Amino acid sequence: MTDPVSLDPLADRPLLVEQVRLEATGVVSLTLVDPGGGELPPWEPGAHIDLRLPSGAVRQYSLCGPPGDPRSYTVAVLREEHGRGGSVEVHDTALVGRTLRARGPRNHFALVEAEHYLFLAGGIGVTPILAMVRRAAAVGASWELYYGGRTRDTMAFTDVLSAIGAGRVHVVPQDESGLLPVAGLVGAAPPGAAVYCCGPEGMVRAVTEVCAATMRDDALHIERFGAPAAGRPAEERAAPPGAARFTVELRRSGVTVEVPPDRTLLDVVREAVPEVGFSCEEGYCGSCETRVLAGEPEHHDTVLSDEERERGDTMMICVGRSASELLTLDL
Ligand code: FES
Repeated sequence: MTDPVSLDPLADRPLLVEQVRLEATGVVSLTLVDPGGGELPPWEPGAHIDLRLPSGAVRQYSLCGPPGDPRSYTVAVLREEHGRGGSVEVHDTALVGRTLRARGPRNHFALVEAEHYLFLAGGIGVTPILAMVRRAAAVGASWELYYGGRTRDTMAFTDVLSAIGAGRVHVVPQDESGLLPVAGLVGAAPPGAAVYCCGPEGMVRAVTEVCAATMRDDALHIERFGAPAAGRPAEERAAPPGAARFTVELRRSGVTVEVPPDRTLLDVVREAVPEVGFSCEEGYCGSCETRVLAGEPEHHDTVLSDEERERGDTMMICVGRSASELLTLDL
């Protein structure tokens, strides 16, 4: 459950990097604690935090430590040489002893009640799934995990996962056993199973297609690392041809501004509130999530569920617009 404070794009807190640990080839984990030794806000499996790196870049990392630990958060970071630079910064910077700013935890990938859980993890996508597996095992749920990766040495947390659920954890390195057979796995899941998938876009797309073809759409819960490969580019969604002008009231700032058709809502908001949080600007990371106080948001993100869109009380302002002439935001 997302609490009101963690939904505030202006609120953050300091976190001290207590430990950096090599978990697998190319993967380090960070243990983050309150600098004063206090307790950290609670979280549920599937939650993530936004971490502001020393360069100022903001990145999202799933919490993968024990969910009941009030003293520390653990995140894990895969080094991506051809990524946006955040992961290389984490790997190449001496972070132990430094204090970083963080927002959250927030959760759009929460565990629902189910008779059985089929967890499908690809690469570093294992991080939210690790927290889910800990919880499923702790409450005695029925579950199974299939964890794919390029090679065994690049796959983090295999030991801890096997210790949690030997017999239920299936580690599938691609160079030994090929890709995860997602169609067969989803097809064989018992009725009433919830399917949780986090991994690279190809894997998420394959699982989404299988679930759609087998009428298991409602059972599927996914988390993406990036924008979906299909669909219109983010800039077109945020300022599509023929988009209407609308007015946005930033209630806390006491400012009302116009958003013209050719500009994104985030662009306009940043002029009035430069400290507003954002990261991907493509509608998939959740970093710019903002509470809607009045008006009808027009959603173009891939974070919110259908139910959350329907409620209309929150939106991603990097790609979202307004279906009403006036939109009032909690900024
Ligand atoms: S900045 Fe990532 S969803 Fe808006």
